[in-house]
Formats: sequence, structure tokens, C-alpha cells
Amino acid sequence: MKSQDYSLGFIGLGRMGREILPRIHSLFPVRVVYNRTSSVCNEVPLEGITCASVPSELAEACNIIFLSLTDTEAVESILFGDNGTSKYLKRGTIIVDLSTISLEGTLRIHERLAKSGIKYLDSPVIGSVGAAKSGNLTSVCGGDESAFNRVRPLLASFSSKIFYLGASGNGIRMKLINNAVMGINMSAIAEALNLSGSIGLPKSKIMEVLLTGGASSRILELKRDKIERGDFSPEFSLEHQLKDLRYAVEMARDAGLNPEFSSAAEKLYAAAATEGLGKDDMSAVASGGVSGAAKPHKEVRV
Ligand SMILES: NC(=O)c1ccc[n+]([C@@H]2O[C@H](COP(=O)([O-])OP(=O)(O)OC[C@H]3O[C@@H](n4cnc5c(N)ncnc54)[C@H](OP(=O)(O)O)[C@@H]3O)[C@@H](O)[C@H]2O)c1
Repeated sequence: MKSQDYSLGFIGLGRMGREILPRIHSLFPVRVVYNRTSSVCNEVPLEGITCASVPSELAEACNIIFLSLTDTEAVESILFGDNGTSKYLKRGTIIVDLSTISLEGTLRIHERLAKSGIKYLDSPVIGSVGAAKSGNLTSVCGGDESAFNRVRPLLASFSSKIFYLGASGNGIRMKLINNAVMGINMSAIAEALNLSGSIGLPKSKIMEVLLTGGASSRILELKRDKIERGDFSPEFSLEHQLKDLRYAVEMARDAGLNPEFSSAAEKLYAAAATEGLGKDDMSAVASGGVSGAAKPHKEVRV
């Protein structure tokens, strides 16, 4: 695919968007970006890219538009709200939604856009800010296959693993399964580490030993240093992890299932958010006083 076939737009310069955008732009020039809080455009290097003042401006100029937004509400407001893009999109435009939103919302948006000949790909990403920066995310994509094939080289600029999963919604289904397992896993780690004070084993030792055997996990590998240092500055925020557990529980219930582990993790994350940890990293559920921690944190009961 030649770069002149693409007229690219990007909406959402949050933690992920601001890492993914330069990777796409270094291979295929991005024309226009939009962020709700316009001052963010000054914080991100945008050489050769115009910053639109309303999303509709971007819709008129682009035939492929990436979204990297918080949740279903944010995506629907960008597409269908006042000054939203949908009225201005040309037939055949492809929306590549990198956001993690609900399954129900995904299917609703797909259906609504399809009526105007717009192809909507649910294409969320697995991996956090570091993987985005180094181009090592995993993309899981559902929707029209020819649209997927057209955007595949763009996805490859930030994802080293790309899965086309078929029908619309399957990208989000896979992503919600992934984030439910991740949230359950982190909750199990939090439970183990919060035993530390009562049973007299230091958290650092518990983590060191867990990492050697079958109880190890990728999320423990990734978050061990943060937990040790008591540094809960956000990579993937706790409130986003809670949102994804809620979407995962909703997806399972709509399928007639009772997802007990995801529901328990959702409760833990909801309690942590209520205690004021929502803006911290998702690993803050294990923040109950790591030995030698630089920054003491409020205990969250498991
Ligand atoms: N961070 C990670 O490690 C990670 C990993 C994988 C997937 N994800 C998913 O990727 C998406 C983005 O995550 P992030 O960490 O980059 O989030 P973030 O830093 O919180 O950024 C969210 C973006 O959405 C915009 N936004 C929120 N509500 C909006 C609304 N109502 N209307 C318009 N724009 C709105 C924000 O604009 P403002 O600047 O105006 O607030 C910002 O650009 C989320 O769905 C998340 O679950 C994140």
C-alpha cells in the first residue's frame, strides 16, 4: 500500500495515542489530529500535522481515522455528538478504533456507521505505554476484512503482533477477555501481597519467589518494580482497568454466564477507585505498604 493512498487522521492524544501517533506518522504521514483538550496539541510534537479545532474538520480531510479514546461514551461523543465526525465522513472511510469500549457499544456504532457506508474496525491494543513506544503492541481486530487488509500496514507501525479475528466485535471480545484475565491476575497478586504484613514475609520476597514458578505471570513481571518502589504513577490507570472489568462482566452476563472471578476483581477495583486510587496505575491494588516503598500508599482490603 502506498502512503499516498492514505489520508490519515488521529483522534485522542492520551497516554496511548501520543505514543502510537508518531509511529504511524514516521511511516505514513498523518494529516490532521484532534484532542478534546486542545492544549494537549502543544505538548505533543506534531511536525507537519494540523491540529483540528473540532472533530468534523478532521472528518472532511481524511479517509482513514484512528480513535484512541477512554470509553464508549467518548467514542460516541466524537462520532455522533455536536460537531462529531459522522455527518462529514465520506462513504468508504475507515474508522480504526483502538479504544477499549463495550461490546454492546461496538456493535451499535458498527451498525450505525455501516448505514452511511463507513467501515468501522474494532481494533483495540494489548500492551501498555512502553510497548506502544517501541512498536510492540498486539492488535486484535474485528470487522470488514478488506478494510482490515487496507489498514494492516498502519497497524504494523505500532504492533508487532496483529490478529484479524473476523466479525465485527471480535476484536473487542478478545480485548475484554484479555483485560479480565489481567485484572483477575493482578487481584490475585494483590491478595497474596496484602498477606505479607500478617504472615511476616516481605512483599519483595513473595514476588521474587512467585516469579520462579507456575504462579508467575506477565503482569507480575511488568509491575514488580512499580510495586517494589511504591511508584503507582499511571501507565494503565486503575479506573481504565475497572472500566474494562465492567465491560467484561457485562459481556459475559449478556452471553448468559456468571463470571465470578471477573466480578470479584471488579469489586476490588471499584473499592480501590472509591478509596481515591482511580488515577493511579492499575497495580495500585497491591499498594498496601510494600516493604521499603518510597511512597506509602493507602491499603486496599481484598
Ligand atoms: N494506557 C494503557 O496502558 C492502555 C493499554 C491498552 C489499551 N488502552 C485503552 O486505550 C484507550 C486510551 O487509553 P489511554 O491510557 O491513552 O487513556 P487517557 O490517557 O486517559 O486518554 C484518553 C483520551 O480520550 C479523550 N477523551 C476522554 N473522554 C472524552 C470525551 N468524552 N470526548 C472526547 N475525548 C475524550 C481524552 O481527551 P482529553 O485530553 O481531553 O481528556 C484523551 O485524549 C482506553 O480505551 C484504554 O482502555 C490503554
